[in-house]
Amino acid sequence: MINTKINFCGVDFKNPIVTASGTFGFGMEYNQIVPIEEYGGFGAKGLTRYPREGNKPPRIAETPSGILNSVGLQNPGVEYFAENIMPVLSDYDTNVIANMSGNTVEEYCEMAQILSDTDVSLIEMNISCPNVKHGGLAFGTDSKVVNELTKEVKKYCKKPLVVKLSPNVTSIAEIAKAAEDGGADALSLINTLLGMKIDINTRRPVLKNNTGGLSGPAVKPVAVRMICEVHNAVNLPIIGMGGVMNGADVIEMMLAGASLVALGTGLFAKPDLIIQVKQEIEEYMQKNNIDNINTLIGAAVMN
Ligand SMILES: Cc1cc2nc3c(=O)[nH]c(=O)nc-3n(C[C@H](O)[C@H](O)[C@H](O)COP(=O)(O)O)c2cc1C
Repeated sequence: MINTKINFCGVDFKNPIVTASGTFGFGMEYNQIVPIEEYGGFGAKGLTRYPREGNKPPRIAETPSGILNSVGLQNPGVEYFAENIMPVLSDYDTNVIANMSGNTVEEYCEMAQILSDTDVSLIEMNISCPNVKHGGLAFGTDSKVVNELTKEVKKYCKKPLVVKLSPNVTSIAEIAKAAEDGGADALSLINTLLGMKIDINTRRPVLKNNTGGLSGPAVKPVAVRMICEVHNAVNLPIIGMGGVMNGADVIEMMLAGASLVALGTGLFAKPDLIIQVKQEIEEYMQKNNIDNINTLIGAAVMN
């Protein structure tokens, strides 16, 4: 018998596979392809305090081994989610990880309070958002801001708080430490890497928004390196993500230090990827005589 169960911040996950926010909607469309209960949990679409229409198209562009997106957090708002979507999702035997993005500290706090009164298992705080009171610089790029934001949100958050780190920083370990000191219960990484694609004929960026976030296999080595650095710097459990395309990628991220691993852009290429991933993990465990998946977490040996 092999054990793939993970206890993450006191919450039981039947397996370590979740989904990355923004790549899985609220689960219902994918549920028609593969039951969402196959997942240990899933990351729901990013929510904002009020409904948002998102950016103008084109907002997705293909790149070598990845995509650039500037969807711009299109969503129905946190209150709509709490009142209309979460009650439906509560009936499923899987964990829902809510994801929230704010423009101000106050917005994050209000969302944490609203989401705390729902059945979500974890609240993930996306800090790759512009801080409108500080010239639009992303919250997640300044360790002092991350520390203060986390401290403030923790006052209102009654569920485990997962701070989702931006890779667009000089020292991810320093930001991780700031979140830990601020009281974060867990961390998730990586969010997308800021990029741009220019059409050489029109001489204009392909995305209407000019820039977008890079995701997919192209970012995986960056993700693995950052998970490893963060795992060594803090004592918090990690949700790893960035370019996972198969079971081997999940194992790699767990060895780097992730306790849970998210499928994201990979689902756009293969919506039923979870089935293959679970099978490959089981095969790897059997082949290597591993009976408990928890033993893989952070087990990579540095040269
Ligand atoms: C279309 C799209 C939308 C996304 N929306 C969000 C979001 O709302 N909140 C968030 O924290 N991350 C969002 N992300 C980032 C992903 O959750 C994930 O961190 C990133 O894509 C890396 O994983 P991947 O390479 O497996 O996709 C989005 C990514 C994509 C591709």
